[in-house]
Amino acid sequence: MSYRKEDILNILKYSDQRPVSGEELGEQLGISRTMVWKYIKSLKDDGYNITSSTKTGYILNSSPDMLYSEEILSGLKTSIIGNKIYHFDELGSTNEEAKRLAPDEDEGTVIISETQKSGRGRMGRDWTSPRGGIYISVILTPTIPASHAYHLTLVAGISVANAIRNLGIDAYIKWPNDILINNRKVCGILTEINAEIEKINYIVLGIGINANVDTGMFPSELKEGSTSLKSELGKPVERVSFVQNLLYEFEQEYIKFKSKPFTDIVDEWISLSDSIGKEVSIMTPSKMVEGKAIGVTKNGALIVKKDDGKKEEIIAGRCIYTRTS
Ligand code: BTN
Repeated sequence: MSYRKEDILNILKYSDQRPVSGEELGEQLGISRTMVWKYIKSLKDDGYNITSSTKTGYILNSSPDMLYSEEILSGLKTSIIGNKIYHFDELGSTNEEAKRLAPDEDEGTVIISETQKSGRGRMGRDWTSPRGGIYISVILTPTIPASHAYHLTLVAGISVANAIRNLGIDAYIKWPNDILINNRKVCGILTEINAEIEKINYIVLGIGINANVDTGMFPSELKEGSTSLKSELGKPVERVSFVQNLLYEFEQEYIKFKSKPFTDIVDEWISLSDSIGKEVSIMTPSKMVEGKAIGVTKNGALIVKKDDGKKEEIIAGRCIYTRTS
């Protein structure tokens, strides 16, 4: 969306239903009334309900349920994350688009899509991405060793859990980064890294949230274990303000990550953990580890105590709970 349209929207929003004349808009923006009319027409085409009367002026009655960048930017309380937001109606995958854009973008740039045709999950799986969900990728360029990139997965998990908790819902984190509500998955996080031997070029953090989607329509193998914010709240979530809060929570956590010992993040992660104390079976890229999850190291690795009493520290893998009680 052009910055002129953004400006017009902001003026109409802050006029609080007071009609604003084309002349006034034109004067404030330094453009003609004809141009104002053209931008208003284009906003209406985007789904904004704007009424106009030649005597009084334009009134914004309602905005469409879209995660347009100017909707999110207006009222966003962050200083780095979301400084630039790309919005798409449809993409293959926001992570793929973020990786394409990353070499020329600053830290904090966000890519959002209303739907994804080939949304990607962890370990080569797909991520079902119907309209109504939230599909977002953030470009980050932290100066940390590449081997510590997975720390950001924990940082993101905490942020999403906190943003959901701010809605009044008890969200927990299943290791490493599934967000659960009432034992069902509502969000997944896919962290991808582009690095040379020890230098990170960029990290793309992809977050998929079942916001206002009907998980009953998900493929049968996912249906049972999935939930959405809408079904947990009993009404649709206001996606724009949720995303604004999510970016804010993420920025707070990211600042902490960059300025405080990582153990602070680990402690916070532990307080939100659903996995510690559970019997788990973890498929790592190289082997299967079974036992009880008994804690997390100061580096964020999961500690699993196996039946033979030996402990294993695992930094990546797919976790399945083997006994639920
Ligand atoms: C998982 O398997 O749990 C991770 C799912 C991550 C999905 C998100 S949606 C936004 C971003 N774009 C993608 O293609 N994947 C991530």
